[in-house]
Amino acid sequence: MLILGIETSCDETAVGIVRDGRELRANVIASQAALHAAHGGVVPELASRQHIRDLQPTLQRALADAGVALADVDAVAVTHGPGLAGALISGVNTAKALAMTLNVPLLGVNHLEGHIYAAWLAASGPGRAPAPSPAPSNEPGFPLACLVASGGHTDLILMEGHGDYRLVGRTRDDAAGEAFDKAARVLGLGFPGGPEIQRAAESLAAFTEVDDSPGTRRAQAATPLPRAWMRDTLDFSFSGVKTALLHRAQDVGLYPPSESIDQDADRLVAQLAREFQESLVDVMTAKLLTMAERYQARGLILGGGVTANARLRQRVRADSPLPVVIPPPALCTDNGAMIAAGAFYQYQRGDIADLSLDVDPSLPFGQPA
Ligand code: KG4
Ligand code: ZN
Repeated sequence: MLILGIETSCDETAVGIVRDGRELRANVIASQAALHAAHGGVVPELASRQHIRDLQPTLQRALADAGVALADVDAVAVTHGPGLAGALISGVNTAKALAMTLNVPLLGVNHLEGHIYAAWLAASGPGRAPAPSPAPSNEPGFPLACLVASGGHTDLILMEGHGDYRLVGRTRDDAAGEAFDKAARVLGLGFPGGPEIQRAAESLAAFTEVDDSPGTRRAQAATPLPRAWMRDTLDFSFSGVKTALLHRAQDVGLYPPSESIDQDADRLVAQLAREFQESLVDVMTAKLLTMAERYQARGLILGGGVTANARLRQRVRADSPLPVVIPPPALCTDNGAMIAAGAFYQYQRGDIADLSLDVDPSLPFGQPA
């Protein structure tokens, strides 16, 4: 079954084509990052308008990449929430028009469910390298402990079967991705902030080799930032570490940014980026492993833009006694293939939409624990 998946919930216009929920045939993403970078964050009106411009060319490229015609498509899937209302509408309307014209089923997929199903995509499409971690073809079995960490969510989901989700933990304030984006802004780095923080943190190694005699500011910068453990709950809170980072940046003279030459600035930024990343990675890794143990999970799945983070991937793989599936970074950030993959299992459950499908910007995911 060949499913076309459309994703426009935020700032990526994305179309993926997937056979039988696993075989990745095409995954084309038109990123709007450059458009929003000038504003330091996603501007909803600009996003909606750009989706409308990019949808047709993205669709055409996906069909060409997959080497299929529209007539070969067996079902059309689309993200209908959560996300930005105007952005979601562009994708949903396009999907409806396609499903109606082709006379094939329409599937409305939850964006967060899509992030989990990226783990089912074996990167076996034409010209693609094999997946770096075993996709759950060697399925460890249910239940699976899933961390979905993105710009809008940081959720711990217990997946007890296809389509069967329990929300056992979530952030009480900022999402992890949002915290990364805000931290990057404080440190004068670009947007989106996650990859910038990662890059800055990785650059620290180069500095240490040149000179390892810590001055006062350096010692200050190298002190660990706080971790919010939220007692023994599985919830997260990232607003405290965000504020702590701002204060630290002020203390070492990085914030507010000044024009004067500061020889040490790049190194201090790298050190603070590293401390910030370590705080978030520590908490996310520990909570995910606690959850897995508490619910006797048989494996772990990571999904969402933040799980593209190299340090997080490394830590979870190193610390987990259970099998771990983490999609390649390009399938962790928003894409259409994950929507097509999730839709395949949804189709099998008979959960098919009709032309009354509407967007829901705050579409919930998972039964509360
Ligand atoms: O899932 P996603 O692409 O879009 C949403 O559903 O929100 O996630 C986007 C978020 C952004 O906040 C971005 O900064 C973060 O994922 N992100 C990262 C990395 N790559 C993207 N965060 C940390 N490290 C990364 N390498
Ligand atoms: Zn996402």
